Amino acid sequence: MTGTNLKTLLPTMENLRWATSRIALVILITAISPHPGHAQSPKATLNIQLDKSLHPVSPTLYGLMTEEINYSYDGGLYAEMVRNRTFQDHGFGGVAHWDMEQKGDSIASMAIDDSEGPSAALQHSLAITVKKADADNPAGVRNEGYWGMALRPETTYKGSLYLKANSSDMGPLSIELINDNTGTAVASATIPTLSTDWKQYEFTLNTAKIEVSSQNHLLLTVRRTGKIWIDLVSLFPHTYKNRQNGNRPDLMQMMAEMHPKFLRLPGGNYLEGDQIDERFDWKNTIGPLVDRPTHRSPWNYQSSDGMGLLEFLEWTEDLKIQTVLAVYAGYSLKGDHIHPGPTLTPFVEDALDEIEFATGDGSTKWGALRAKLGHPEPFPIQYVEIGNEDWFDRSGSYEARYQQFYKAIKARYPQLQLIATAPLEKFKPDVLDDHYYKRADEFYADVKHYDTVDRNGPKIFVGEWATREGSPTTNMGAALGDAAWMTGMERNSDLIVMASYAPLFVNVNPGGMQWESDLIGYDALTSYGAPSYYAQSIFAKYLGTEVPASALTGGGGRFFYSVTSSPEKGKVYLKLVNASSVSQTVDIAMTGVSNVAKTATLVTISGHSLAETNTISVPTRIVPLVTAIKSAAGFSHTMPPYSIQVLELEAK
Ligand code: AHR
Repeated sequence: MTGTNLKTLLPTMENLRWATSRIALVILITAISPHPGHAQSPKATLNIQLDKSLHPVSPTLYGLMTEEINYSYDGGLYAEMVRNRTFQDHGFGGVAHWDMEQKGDSIASMAIDDSEGPSAALQHSLAITVKKADADNPAGVRNEGYWGMALRPETTYKGSLYLKANSSDMGPLSIELINDNTGTAVASATIPTLSTDWKQYEFTLNTAKIEVSSQNHLLLTVRRTGKIWIDLVSLFPHTYKNRQNGNRPDLMQMMAEMHPKFLRLPGGNYLEGDQIDERFDWKNTIGPLVDRPTHRSPWNYQSSDGMGLLEFLEWTEDLKIQTVLAVYAGYSLKGDHIHPGPTLTPFVEDALDEIEFATGDGSTKWGALRAKLGHPEPFPIQYVEIGNEDWFDRSGSYEARYQQFYKAIKARYPQLQLIATAPLEKFKPDVLDDHYYKRADEFYADVKHYDTVDRNGPKIFVGEWATREGSPTTNMGAALGDAAWMTGMERNSDLIVMASYAPLFVNVNPGGMQWESDLIGYDALTSYGAPSYYAQSIFAKYLGTEVPASALTGGGGRFFYSVTSSPEKGKVYLKLVNASSVSQTVDIAMTGVSNVAKTATLVTISGHSLAETNTISVPTRIVPLVTAIKSAAGFSHTMPPYSIQVLELEAK
């Protein structure tokens, strides 16, 4: 032991916060003495045997899980700016998110027309009847976007719409982006002539030197009397990697900075739907947007299906991560199930087609379709999940349903690992998906959950888990619960092949959230990570390839740790969690190496209270701080209260 008690002093903490660039630098080394008289947890002693590996760390341990919940895609990751673009959301209250605009003395009305639509998939549209209008008094409709439309200066927005007019004299159509506060147009385009048949029109809207704001809406107007029908009105900003029909760059970047290894898609409950015909029916989510009928999500809003199967797969490609493909397995949330046997066969066939769509080459039917849709290269897939949370199926049909899928998929794709979503009595699945939504206290108590699980059973995928404290996003207390739980998962990463926090996303606007305690919050303009987000990020970033033998004695009841190492890099990653309100000292001794570097990187996430958190208006209150401390084969380290720390040590 060096006997030195080290704590990093951070004179300009705000300057060092990770949030703005989310890349931090090792700044300084300062030793200070412990504060005599400060309350402390009992000292812990941690011995790490670096020459004794217990088992490898799963190379796919940390990943992502999302679904259409909390406006995760529509109004979230999927960059579409027009809300209710195909007018599926309407009723007694009118056409949701669309309003009439009648300038001056113009007179017009709008109504859903079930007899007019641009395609077999979209068989209805919005009819706009203009009784009175002229050039100075145009009439039309406006769309409010997803809690506004975020506009930036000197930026191009690309749009399109399907339109049919009752007369070729109905043009021009004016398309404008209007600032809500000033009422003035900040970008405009014109379609001079309008067809009397359904036709798609494309346009671009360019902003000038405007203020960044989300208080804008889209306005479509005509200046002639008559009738037009519109559908699939769409507007996109710049997207991640410039994908057409793509994703918000800020949210993609935030996911990239979680260092994930996979994405579980497309859900969750969203896979199953409330009813069988509301499942994620992947064949209805591919191809041109006009051929996608859209469907109701079990989270009580219509999904545009702009985020279709191919877009999901391209998302994994953009982040360079694996796909964990969940296929619908014949059970929906309100309790309906398909009997195993011949009635289930078409669903099994659908799953085989889906796997072929993702992984087949151009010589296969569905692989050829994927190529035709613009993606000739197959996507690599190792894991397929059969259903979601089938323990809810009280009919007891899951065991037979799983086996029917298993037999058919393994016959064609023997290399795939097939995940079961409920324990099976007579059949050993390749992998079992366990879900945990708990309070921090419950995670502390359950941190050894997998220490004693039978290693001869299936591998484990912790496909959904989260400490549910804080709203809409989690707080420091939840981050501590999460970090404690992750130490247990790392220790058991011979058994746990993958783990993914859920839900990932929430639109923080009123009405945006269906599920409290999420990881990443956003509005139309900006996004931020909860303390739990940063806990995930640093746990995944600083992860070794082996779990060395270690032993802990002493320490307070709210002290947790895990240690992994990368012998070939000569690195040791020590994760320490102090979920107590007082500081925690730990004496660390490393054996089995001859040379330990004199400095180590220390990453700290800490809060003043359990309730402390980040918000859309104060997004970086709690972020990782990266500093340096002195290290040696033996040294003493003191953690602040309510803190999560990673020590990256060099030991060869
Ligand atoms: O993550 C929210 C929901 O929790 C998922 O949709 C479901 O699988 C689980 O019950």
